[in-house]
Amino acid sequence: MAVPKRQFRLTVDELPTRWYNIIPDLPEPLPPPQDPEDGPSRVDDLPNLLVTECLKQEMSPERWVDIPDGLRELYHQAGRPRPLFRALSLEKALGTPARLYYKSEFYSPTGSHKVNTALAQAFYARAEGYERLATETGAGQWGTALAYAAALTGLRCTVYWVRAVYSWKAARLGFMKMLGADVYASPSDRTECGRRLCEEDPNHPGSLGIAISEGLEDAKHDPKAAYCLGSVLNHVLMHQTIIGLETQKQFEMAGDYPDTMISCLGGGSNFGGFVLPFVGDVLTKGKKVRFIAAQSQAAPNLQGEYRYNFADHAEITPLLKMYTLGHTVSMPPIKGDGLRYHGCSPIVSLLRKLGYIDTIAYPVDERRVFERATTFMRTEGFLPAPESAYSVCCAIEEALRCKQAGEERVIAFNVSGHGFMDMEGYREVLGIE
Ligand SMILES: Cc1ncc(COP(=O)(O)O)c(C=O)c1O
Repeated sequence: MAVPKRQFRLTVDELPTRWYNIIPDLPEPLPPPQDPEDGPSRVDDLPNLLVTECLKQEMSPERWVDIPDGLRELYHQAGRPRPLFRALSLEKALGTPARLYYKSEFYSPTGSHKVNTALAQAFYARAEGYERLATETGAGQWGTALAYAAALTGLRCTVYWVRAVYSWKAARLGFMKMLGADVYASPSDRTECGRRLCEEDPNHPGSLGIAISEGLEDAKHDPKAAYCLGSVLNHVLMHQTIIGLETQKQFEMAGDYPDTMISCLGGGSNFGGFVLPFVGDVLTKGKKVRFIAAQSQAAPNLQGEYRYNFADHAEITPLLKMYTLGHTVSMPPIKGDGLRYHGCSPIVSLLRKLGYIDTIAYPVDERRVFERATTFMRTEGFLPAPESAYSVCCAIEEALRCKQAGEERVIAFNVSGHGFMDMEGYREVLGIE
């Protein structure tokens, strides 16, 4: 008896050789970063903070950007290409006529999609002679990915980690340290911005916006250090398109094509990386796909205002045109804390403004989301990261809608990470003894 096909795998030779840059295909020009009316030029300061090659890629007009051979080797070392799964067991359990597919970014040495841009940024930083990388992290996934990339490329790494999460993820803290990173709970006493906030509240829970300010301030004072951002920026989303480019090839192998694509969204990097190549198909090949970003009501940034706003708390970054809740807004900590960011990537924001992106935000208590993740785990067998559980939840609810309507849709979702180090979060929310 033939085994039903559950996995679509690419060979190493089929690993994409170029990233997709959607900027030239966007229906309207992407609004560029701007300076605020007062104070020093943040735009002029960017070359002192960011890796030169990444900054060049940020506003590149080229549709395709070559992935250097040395970096493709690192991608391969990190386990790429990653399989696309058909969720046959989940489909059966739900009794849905929809065909469900999921991309397995959880097969990552550090646990998430974040390695795709961490390796790229570290690779270029190393080539440009930097010795240290400084960054922020929310869930801890980005910090671990950059620590890993720094270790593989022979760089040092400093991570400012949102305190509300640092406090409960001891295993991930150990993981980052074992990779050789220096890790600080943010706000910390190592930066002016951190000290100011600690004075106001010694137990300040922190936010991604604050941790970004600390990473930037740190890098600004050390010419041997580059600042690396784990989401939001155009070059980060472009590096992540390796996810969607692989997925396109895998759908070809499956003889299928998605009409609905779903992923969770914090700053927009895994969502963008997964969907942008398919958005390109919609914009240039007349394909019809519905794109849904799954968010938390703790930070429903896509329901905010579309305007210029800072990407960090201390106003060190230029202003970016994006959907935002405001850069100093306070948002309640959640277990899927990687989704708790005030703004969404300018590229995804523009596409949302033009009507290409739908969004849903789930309740802050996370029960509904984690119960759906449990269904996924008990059928497909993989434990998603708390952030990825939002993607899973949205896909399951779409599949149930198909069941009610008797619709045979094709739903693709991205499982951006695994939850092996997030059990405490699941236990607390689900009341597991
Ligand atoms: C596993 C995982 N998925 C998703 C996200 C959200 O970030 P982004 O929107 O940049 O993909 C994070 C952020 O930390 C994460 O760790």
